[in-house]
Amino acid sequence: MNIGVLVSGTGSNLEAMIRERVPIALVIADRECRALEIASHAGIPTELVERADFGANFDRVWYTEKLVRILERHSIHLVAMAGFMTFLSKEIFEKFDGHIVNTHPSLLPLYKGNRAVEDALTAGATETGCTIHIATENLDDGKILAQERVPIMPGDNVEILHERIKEAEHRLYPKILKDILSGNLAL
Ligand code: GRF
Repeated sequence: MNIGVLVSGTGSNLEAMIRERVPIALVIADRECRALEIASHAGIPTELVERADFGANFDRVWYTEKLVRILERHSIHLVAMAGFMTFLSKEIFEKFDGHIVNTHPSLLPLYKGNRAVEDALTAGATETGCTIHIATENLDDGKILAQERVPIMPGDNVEILHERIKEAEHRLYPKILKDILSGNLAL
């Protein structure tokens, strides 16, 4: 099963996958980012599908179809989103039906969206966590595969708490991907 990883940013989850020897066939980024450099360094094939438009005119379907064509060209069977910041249209979820996984920095269904860490702090919660789940066309929705709880400490800010959540993601995400590959976890 060939895995393609989608990234946009720091790439610490990608680093954890590489460290844990998850076989990765392709890394795609929507922008120049550290994650792309990490992939190149590790000798993993990369593609930059640059997103030029972040405004209201962004052609989401066109962009998604372009991405799907590249995934197909590389014979990708499983897509792992790791901090990918472009919301894709339904075409990819139809094509890779149930074979797109994502990590989210909260205990879903709590705190969906891209302010999940901040929202947990604002809510005054004493714990949050991370969720590995099947991605669907609805943001941060889909079947939950695994979760890990993370305590919120007095004095935490978004950066500190997000780093603590990422430590959990780095444990959980590579493990879940390996479980899928080995057949221990059926999608
Ligand atoms: C992770 O916390 C992930 O849950 C969220 O974005 C972050 C990506 O971090 N969607 P990194 O780029 O893997 O360091």
